[in-house]
Amino acid sequence: HPIKPQMAEHPILRQADCRAKGGAPGFKVAILGAAGGIGQPLAMLMKMNPLVSVLHLYDVVNAPGVTADISHMDTGAVVRGFLGQPQLENALTGMDLVIIPAGVPRKPGMTRDDLFKINAGIVKTLCEGIAKCCPNAVVNLISNPVNSTVPIAAEVFKKAGTYDPKKLLGVTMLDVVRANTFVAEVLGLDPREVNVPVVGGHAGVTILPLLSQVKPPCSFTPDEIEYLTKRIQDGGTEVVQAKAGAGSATLSMAYAAVKFADACLRGLRGDAGIVECAFVASQVTELPFFATKVRLGRAGAEEVYQLGPLNEYERVGLEKAKEELEASIQKGVSFIRK
Ligand code: NAD
Ligand code: LMR
Repeated sequence: HPIKPQMAEHPILRQADCRAKGGAPGFKVAILGAAGGIGQPLAMLMKMNPLVSVLHLYDVVNAPGVTADISHMDTGAVVRGFLGQPQLENALTGMDLVIIPAGVPRKPGMTRDDLFKINAGIVKTLCEGIAKCCPNAVVNLISNPVNSTVPIAAEVFKKAGTYDPKKLLGVTMLDVVRANTFVAEVLGLDPREVNVPVVGGHAGVTILPLLSQVKPPCSFTPDEIEYLTKRIQDGGTEVVQAKAGAGSATLSMAYAAVKFADACLRGLRGDAGIVECAFVASQVTELPFFATKVRLGRAGAEEVYQLGPLNEYERVGLEKAKEELEASIQKGVSFIRK
């Protein structure tokens, strides 16, 4: 059962019953880790999304408080809270989309890989729940290190016999959001008019912005390329250092997560031409997972696009990215297979 009867589900309320049963059109979305730094603003923004009819908020702490708070927003989605492992299955049953920002964030001096020890186990448990309760859901995985947690999730789903590579997406949207912002600053453009493909993975040199493919078409000096590539690759660390021990990016991540989740939901609805970057099962390189542009549709990531033409700087970057990515992917796979 969801935590405590919410006022929104009190029997005196005439509309509550039909809405709670999912009578309103839209998708059912669960956020796992909903009380965290990303989870809370993400929950708020998903409650504002007109494509969402039911929003399940799961965490191991403080889910009732966040749920009560968000449920007072006068938007369409019915909100229910779920607290702790015994309520995980109820949180997941019937979901179309599961967004996972559960896990510990970095402190200054740490790499994303330093989070593996704790977050690998968290992601494993949550994905076992998904395999059991909503095996057809699209999964948006945010928990770091994404380069390893996506392979972990894939192995859990394979073990359970539910793996659909099109439905498992590592969220790299924040890299694209940052790239759009930083490139727009250099060019003196509105960031909403800029689109930068970012490929590879989501950590340090594995984050590879393709500045030769920026839309609208433009050119950069070698110094600008060096500055932009480094700033995009180190964007997460810039925030970790500025927060000085109080965590990593949460607000820009919630924005990026909602931008990506909304694209997934529009794809599920059947909208045409929804293309975003994500870290997915891939044959674009020799690695089993890689981030590139993907086309989102009713089945998830229905098409994985090739890299397109790269310049020499990007070809060198690609080799560096692949080397680190291979080890991170292998680490995730071994965590489950051992
Ligand atoms: P946070 O500590 O503020 O919140 C994490 C939440 O997860 C907490 O509420 C915690 O209770 C919850 N949690 C812990 N174990 C859980 C479990 N077993 N089941 C459900 N919930 C559980 O951290 P945050 O700042 O929100 O970051 C969360 C994760 O997202 C971190 O791993 C961080 O590195 C990652 N992150 C990824 C990106 C990206 O671009 N993919 C960007 C920013 C942060
Ligand atoms: C980010 O890119 O902001 C996240 O991956 C969090 C981090 O640890 O940098």
